[in-house]
Amino acid sequence: MTVLAPVSPKNPDRSPHAIGAPLGAPWPASARRVEGDILVGGVSLADLAARHGTAVYVLDESEVRTRALAYRCALPNATVLYAAKAFLCGAMVRWMDDDGLGLDVCSGNELGLALAQGFPARRIVMHGNAKSEAELDLAVRSGVGRIVVDSFSEIAHLAALAPADEPQGVYVRVVPGVAAGHHAAVRTGVDDQQFGFPLSGGFAAEAASRVLNQPHLRLEGLHCHLGSQISQVEPFLIAVDRMVELLSTLRDRYGIILPELDLGGGHAIAYRPGEPALDPARYAAAVLPRLAARCAEHNLPVPRLVVEPGRAIVGPAGVALYRVLAVKHSPSGHRFVAVDGGMSDNPRPALYGAGYTAQLVGRFSREPLQGARVVGRHCEAGDVLVPDALLPEDTRPGDLLAIPAAGAYQLSMSSGYNMVGRPPLVAVRDGAERLLLRRETLEDILRREIA
Ligand code: LLP
Repeated sequence: MTVLAPVSPKNPDRSPHAIGAPLGAPWPASARRVEGDILVGGVSLADLAARHGTAVYVLDESEVRTRALAYRCALPNATVLYAAKAFLCGAMVRWMDDDGLGLDVCSGNELGLALAQGFPARRIVMHGNAKSEAELDLAVRSGVGRIVVDSFSEIAHLAALAPADEPQGVYVRVVPGVAAGHHAAVRTGVDDQQFGFPLSGGFAAEAASRVLNQPHLRLEGLHCHLGSQISQVEPFLIAVDRMVELLSTLRDRYGIILPELDLGGGHAIAYRPGEPALDPARYAAAVLPRLAARCAEHNLPVPRLVVEPGRAIVGPAGVALYRVLAVKHSPSGHRFVAVDGGMSDNPRPALYGAGYTAQLVGRFSREPLQGARVVGRHCEAGDVLVPDALLPEDTRPGDLLAIPAAGAYQLSMSSGYNMVGRPPLVAVRDGAERLLLRRETLEDILRREIA
């Protein structure tokens, strides 16, 4: 059947040419428009909303796994760790395991979830600027492959926990002094923030020497993470230069050649049409030759590269679906479209001013698109999901809105604010759906009460 949609000159998005064609970034590759609806992984978003209620998150399994495999293909000789903080659940752990990735975890509970799914501990790297004794102990006892040390006290502490017969593999987290990332809150590659040992002032070299002095620890390499949403390769190239220089200093000073170099994650995705992404092929084409060249200059063997993408694997695979609860207009002419989610499932706009798009799904509107402020349902004027959305003039309560690029740092940063309850997550693939996480209910909230 040929599906024809009415054409609105003000709404080129709905031209007949777009019907059935991939929507393109920021949507998952599988996303197709069919009449007023959108299919993701072959499943109708409107049907998912009807079956699971709203707000609901949809995760395109094929998109996740294609992206994970794209890293492995672009960097066949590197270790690719999925950064679990972007989003973790049991299925993600199993997909990453099946697809041959490692995991970067940053809390005892992320580690515990991975272990509970049977993920091999030796393929896990544990991060954190402030790991508790219990977390370090769990990491050591479970045989985590590498622990990234982040303070002088932690080095001594970890050495005391690690067994003598099997030294714990360790990276030193280095601050290379490279500023990159979409917001000051995520720029961890610069001095004067709480992560790592700065190169400047000799802190990083001193940390390496302290690890080398601990017989229960085995220094396997250096680590750095510059920041998030980095769309250019240049910051990574500068980081390579500085990290290789430190490898060379450590060789000259302590006679040690470190076999691994972890450059962290931070690769950008598109949140809105036309925004730049840093795909693994472009990253590899720039970083690998630079690493080889710098190592040759310093007469060092090329260390095994380790990368830790999170957002770039899971971000574009997610779609958030909300129901419109209210529409109102302010005296100054703003149109507010309020939905049944917001800052408790997606704090990113409020925290970082992060930009998104919103799309009406589930019915076809012939009305022209007009500016709308998509707001959440939480008790703050700052709960604005999309300040500059374009939605049909007749958008009304009961309508469904979809926000793409919702897979990373949304559910993983979701909160209990206003006791709205965390939304469910449904995986889709090849026309089938699978509920991965159920909705948080009043019973869940009541269960934490002990009085
Ligand atoms: N490795 C380390 C040590 C990290 O700290 C992070 C992210 C990653 C890897 C993964 O970065 P990705 O490839 O996902 O950008 N909540 C913020 C992002 C915080 C990122 C924290 N660290 C946001 O929503 O933009």
